[in-house]
Amino acid sequence: MAISYDKEQKLFHLQTPNTSYVMGVCEDTHLLHLYYGAKIKSYSVVMENFPIREHRSFECEDISIGAYSTGTLPLEYPVYGHGDYRSPAFHAEYCDGSHITALTYQGYEIKKGKTPLKGLPATYTESDDEAETLYITLMDQLTGLSLILSYTVFEDSDAIVKSVLVKNGGSSSIYLKTVMSSCIHLFDKDYDFVHLEGTWARERSIQKRPLMTGTMSIDSKRTTSSHHHSPFLALARPYATETCGDVYAMSFVYSGNHIETTEVDAFDTTRAMVGINPFGFGWNLNPGEEFQAPEVVLTYSATGFGAMSRTYHKLYRTRLCRGKFRDLERPVLINNWEATYFGFNEEKILRIAEKAKTVGVELMVLDDGWFGKRDSDNCSLGDWVVDKRKLPNGIEGLASKVTELGMQFGLWFEPEMVSEDSDLYRAHPDWCLHVKDRRRTPSRFQLILDMSRPEVRDYVVDAVSSVLSSAPISYVKWDMNRNASEVGSAGYPESQQSEISHRYILGVYEILERLTSAFPDILFEGCSGGGGRFDAGMLYYFPQYWTSDDSDALERLYIQHGTSMVMPACTMGAHVSAVPNHQVRRTTPLKARGDVASVGQLGYELDLNTLSEEEIQAVKAQIIKYKELRHTVHYGEMYRLKSPFDDRCCAWEYVTENQIVLMYCVAHARVGLGRTCVKLEGLDPDAKYRDKESGVVYDGDYLMHVGLYFTDKADLESQLLIFDRV
Ligand code: DGJ
Repeated sequence: MAISYDKEQKLFHLQTPNTSYVMGVCEDTHLLHLYYGAKIKSYSVVMENFPIREHRSFECEDISIGAYSTGTLPLEYPVYGHGDYRSPAFHAEYCDGSHITALTYQGYEIKKGKTPLKGLPATYTESDDEAETLYITLMDQLTGLSLILSYTVFEDSDAIVKSVLVKNGGSSSIYLKTVMSSCIHLFDKDYDFVHLEGTWARERSIQKRPLMTGTMSIDSKRTTSSHHHSPFLALARPYATETCGDVYAMSFVYSGNHIETTEVDAFDTTRAMVGINPFGFGWNLNPGEEFQAPEVVLTYSATGFGAMSRTYHKLYRTRLCRGKFRDLERPVLINNWEATYFGFNEEKILRIAEKAKTVGVELMVLDDGWFGKRDSDNCSLGDWVVDKRKLPNGIEGLASKVTELGMQFGLWFEPEMVSEDSDLYRAHPDWCLHVKDRRRTPSRFQLILDMSRPEVRDYVVDAVSSVLSSAPISYVKWDMNRNASEVGSAGYPESQQSEISHRYILGVYEILERLTSAFPDILFEGCSGGGGRFDAGMLYYFPQYWTSDDSDALERLYIQHGTSMVMPACTMGAHVSAVPNHQVRRTTPLKARGDVASVGQLGYELDLNTLSEEEIQAVKAQIIKYKELRHTVHYGEMYRLKSPFDDRCCAWEYVTENQIVLMYCVAHARVGLGRTCVKLEGLDPDAKYRDKESGVVYDGDYLMHVGLYFTDKADLESQLLIFDRV
């Protein structure tokens, strides 16, 4: 059994294949976090051996359960009140104006399977036998507030999925100010705080800094998870590498304002929490109502970051992504954005598609600019009506011609936005997020539609659906190109304005649920100015995501490396674009651009008609090779063998039972520094593998222990090797 309860010791023990998570009920009152780490057979409460029954000066005593300090207890779900001065997981204001909560343990239930979270993205099971879930109830007797903490353990994963349901069982309204989704305690502070930071076109760069006494956090206040800080945190031993060292990781399945925070107290206990950012958040919970906090996926690895990532990759690929495309090889696409920007017409698009067809591209995507009067980014968002000046035969005419070529057709939308210069905004100026009497700050000339309002959501669903039903459309690129500034809604009273940023995201989730269920045969790819909002919440609706607007081969080594900390390769949109690159002006070899993009969801984003015949033949060969390796890259296990952040080169390996794919690329060549040895991982030492190109056969143990040598002669020299098991 994955979850057990020891009645005598009052201990909950959650076991995954390699980890244990233990909580204990102390004096029938407090739920304590006792252990998280490598799997143990059992846990014994030996009080002398455990630093919880401590009394410290200037810490309050909990006289109800003995003379020890509440301020040092490792509470599983800490609240404000009665002497815990660290940041709480839960903080509320009650009708008498007080802020004090006192949670006492009520009981538990263990059930097979996993219950979906209402209105929120979440990991799921396909049969109840795949997982077990523990529900623990805590209650504040005075107000009737109760919290149900849930913990799911999947049978074959080292993940533990946590979430919190808040219920108001009292007779007065409760104003929720902080509802964290997960809290853990570690009993020392010898960790690095590891996170993914970035900005537009430089997403998810790996950052590490030593944990210090006091509070450290990353967050988003942008009403989107953002380019700037991914909703992910790992606490790792300073010596942790890809293959060794403790790593505690937390990935938040949420796309709005988030916070990942640690607090190290004076006694070197580390509290780590993840949840909705309390900044700008407040929720009125009326008697009888419930509030569901989003879920956090935790994993512990005793063997470094590689195993951590592989746990996320497998769970997210198989039990977070949904729909028919989850397990399918997805089409190689061509997108016209960097080829034409807004300056296209039907003929130009058809010329791009025709050429793309000849090299093996499977899907033509028409990007921004097909609707309203959109000749630049300053108008028409919200008016989802085709621009007949550019497309005289409508979307249907163009889509039919593309499908007649034997390709699929896809279309760009940015449904969450409205341009100030649009018919929609002129008709409904109060349908955007705004605060009465305050300036509405545009960004890229656009405002954000108020998805907290049902009538706005209905408009968006109807407008997008009517285009999707009007033509043979197989793919949608769902873009989102700004962060929120004045978060307020004309649809809610003053007392509920602090709910709007969370209600916005709930509204977006509802729209995505309605559209993806109504159009199950359409592949939806997410985008937010590249890889903004590329978070676990979005994967529930989008099985793939445009990783970054920067498709320069060198920049992509960093971006895809950082992204792979949490996201599997099958979710990463990766395109070959023109040189000099439009973002960094760098000229890189076509081979490197192709090799780096081939270990994501391959696409092209240039006008292939501008390439020489030799280049066209090279693109053709790239696509043939990609079709041979994509199954392994997308559904295999990934090993990061060399990091562009630490090495002069980058090497990523993908392994299935029958094949290995190795992508090697020089980031920065230096004269006279010898050669680089890359040792493969995760192979069967007794198996033999044949290099598809050279025909050389290697033993598995040779590839893992002797390795392959590469001479790093020039920047961006790359290799994409396929080895078949023989
Ligand atoms: C931002 C996206 O990331 C680009 O790929 C492109 O779709 C533009 N928006 C269009 O406005």
